[in-house]
Amino acid sequence: MAGKNDKSEKRYRELLGIIREHNRLYYELDSPSIDDAEYDRLVRELGEIERLHPELKESETPSERVGGAVSRAFSEVPHDPPMLSLGNVFDEAELQEFDARCRKAAGNGLMTYTVELKYDGLAVEVFYRDGQMFQGATRGNGSVGEDVTANLMTISGIPRRLATAVPYLTVRGEVFMRLSEFEKLNSTREEEGEALFANPRNAAAGSLRQIDPAVTARRELDAVFYGIGRAEGAVYDGARKKSGGQSVLPGFEGPREPGGIDTQEALFGYFQSIGVPVSPHRACGSLDDVMAFYRYWLENRHALDFDIDGIVVKINDFSLREKMGATGKAPRWAVAWKFPAKEAVTVLESVDFQVGRTGIVTPVANLKPINIGGVVVKRATLHNFSEIERLGVRIGSRVTVIRAGDVIPKVVEAHGDGPGGDAINPPDACPSCLQPLDREDIYLRCLNPDCEAKKLENLKYFVSKDGMDIEFFGPELIQRLHERGKLDGPADFFSLTRDDLLGVERMGDKIADKILESIDKRRSVPLSVFIRGLGIRNVGEHLARVLARAAGSLAGLSAMSRDELMRIHEVGPGVADSVYEFFHGERSAAVVRAMLEAGIKVLDEATPSASHKGVAGKTFVFTGTMESMERKDAEELVESLGGKAAGSVSKKTDYVVAGESPGSKRDKAEALGVRVLTEKEFLDMVKDNE
Ligand code: IVH
Repeated sequence: MAGKNDKSEKRYRELLGIIREHNRLYYELDSPSIDDAEYDRLVRELGEIERLHPELKESETPSERVGGAVSRAFSEVPHDPPMLSLGNVFDEAELQEFDARCRKAAGNGLMTYTVELKYDGLAVEVFYRDGQMFQGATRGNGSVGEDVTANLMTISGIPRRLATAVPYLTVRGEVFMRLSEFEKLNSTREEEGEALFANPRNAAAGSLRQIDPAVTARRELDAVFYGIGRAEGAVYDGARKKSGGQSVLPGFEGPREPGGIDTQEALFGYFQSIGVPVSPHRACGSLDDVMAFYRYWLENRHALDFDIDGIVVKINDFSLREKMGATGKAPRWAVAWKFPAKEAVTVLESVDFQVGRTGIVTPVANLKPINIGGVVVKRATLHNFSEIERLGVRIGSRVTVIRAGDVIPKVVEAHGDGPGGDAINPPDACPSCLQPLDREDIYLRCLNPDCEAKKLENLKYFVSKDGMDIEFFGPELIQRLHERGKLDGPADFFSLTRDDLLGVERMGDKIADKILESIDKRRSVPLSVFIRGLGIRNVGEHLARVLARAAGSLAGLSAMSRDELMRIHEVGPGVADSVYEFFHGERSAAVVRAMLEAGIKVLDEATPSASHKGVAGKTFVFTGTMESMERKDAEELVESLGGKAAGSVSKKTDYVVAGESPGSKRDKAEALGVRVLTEKEFLDMVKDNE
C-alpha cells in the first residue's frame, strides 16, 4: 500500500526534523522548548514507525542515539564506553513489562534491583589517575563530551583526590543545582536585569558550561555519582583485593570481575569508601518494594532541596546486566520511572482579563490545551502586566506552564522560537462594568463598588474554604442564583429557600437539602471564621484568628481604633488600615449588619486574659454530627475559650458533647461517669460567660 507508506515516510521525515531540532535546543542551547514527556512521545512515535517500516530507518536515528552534539567552545573528551541514556516507564504496567524481561534473563536465578533517585541535572564523567582527578566532561552526545574539567573542579562535592590511590578510575553521575541556590541565583539575576533560568537543570547546565571557571565557582553546584565508566588496576579495596587490566565492557557500566565489585550496592559502598558522593538508594527484593520507593518519593519529593524527575530502577547484579546488554541508546537492565510532568510547553492563544473580588484585574492566558501531570490545563495566570513584560510573552508565544499541587497553573517562561504575535496590552476599562481602571503600581484595579464581576467573586470567596467554608456552592450555582436576583451579597445565602434552589436548572431535591444543611451549619460561627468570611483585605486565616482572640467579640473588633489595632501583636499598619476601613466603610459595614439581621450568631472568642469560666481548663470531646456547626469549629471555639478539645474519651475528659448519631464515645462517657452535653447545652454553656 504505497499510499500508507508515503504517509508514514512523510511523518517519519517530519519527526526526524522535529526531534533533531529539540535535541539541539536541549543539549546545545540548554533551552528546551518542550517537556520531557512530549519529547519522549515523539521519539516513541519515531521508533514505532521504524518498527513497522524498517526500510525507512536511518542509520543515525535519534531513537537509538543520545541526542546532542558538542559545543565548539570546549575541547572534546571521548567516553569509553559511551555514556548511555535510560529507557522510560511511566506506570506500573510498563514497569511490570520491564520486570518480566529481567526475570526472563535471570532464568530461575534470584534477582534484586536497586532503586535510586533520578536527579534532574546533567550527566558528567570524572576521570582519576592514581586517585587524582585529572579530567571531567559533560555527556555531550554520549560518545564525546565537552571538557569542563576546570569547572567541575570548582564543585566542592566532587573529590579532587580519592581516599585510595586507584590506578585509573572514571566515575559517572549527575551535576545539579539545589533549589535554594537556584532561587538565590535567579533573584540576583533579576536585580541585575539578566535573563532568568527556567529551572534548576538549565541553571546547572548553564553554570557548568561557563568559559570562565570563576563564574561556575560562584554558583554553587552539587554532584552525586552512580556508575563507573572504566576502571583499571586495583579497584576494590575490599576483602578480595583485585588487580588486573581493563575491567569494563562497552555498553556496560560497572566492573565485571567476579569477586570484585559485582553489584550496584557494592559499587555504592565502594564509592563511599573512596569519598565519592552517592545518591540515596535502596536494594529491592520485589516489585512491591520498587513501587513503594516510587510512591514515597512522588509524595515527598517536594521536601527535597533539589529536583528529581523520577526514580531509576537497576538490576543489582552486574553479571546479569552483562547478560542483558544494551541497545545503542540505553541499557536493557535499567529504566527510569518518571514522575508525571509538572510543567509543559504549549501555545498561548489569547488573553482574558479577570476581575478579582478586590477589583484587581488579572491577565489570564487561554492555552492550547495540554496535559500536565494527568490534568488538562487550558488556562493559566499571567499574574500582572509587569510579569507579561518581564516574560516577553505575546499572543501565539510558546510558553512553559507549571502546575504545582492545588495552585492555579501559571505561565513561567516564554520561548522566543515562534513568530512574534500581537502584544498583550492592558485594558483601559474594567472588562465587566466598563468603568475606567485605577493603576496601583503594578496592579490595575476596578474601584466601582457595584461591579458585577467583583460581587460574584466576593460571593464565591464567601463560601470557599478560605471564607466561611459552605459546601456545594460551585461558581455556576452562584452565578445562576445571582442572575435570578436571589444572591446579591453574602447575607443572602442565609435567606435562600428550598424553592430558590429548586428554581435552578438541574437542581434535585437531595442536593438542595444538602445545600440547606450546609448553610444551617454556618448560622453560628466562631468570630475567627466570621472574620475570615468577610474577606477583609490583607486578612487571611491566621490573622483572622489573631484578631478574634485579641478583640474577643465582633462589637469589640468593629469599635477598635487604628492605634488599638496596631497594638495587637502581628498587626501592622496595612492590616490595621484595612480592618478599620472595613468596619467604617458604609458598604462593608452594611454587609456585616445584613448578616447579623439574617440571624447569624457570631460566637465570642476569649481574649487571652479573660478566658471562659465554664470552658477554660476543661477537656471536651465531640461526637456525632452537630446541627448548627462543624465539629472542627466547635473544637476551635473550645480552644479559643481556654479549653482543650480531645479526640477520645478518658477519665480526664470533662464533657462529651453528643450530636446526632453519637456512637461509642457517648457510651464510653457514660461508663466512665463523664458528663454528656447535648448540642444546645453546649451552646448555652459557651454563650454565658458570667
Ligand atoms: S543511570 C546506563 N542513575 O538520567 C545508565 N542516571 O535519562 C545511565 N540520571 O543520563 C544512567 N539520576 O543523566 C542513572 N540515579 C541515576 C540517575 C541518572 C539521574 C540521569 C542521567 C542519565 C539520564 C537518563
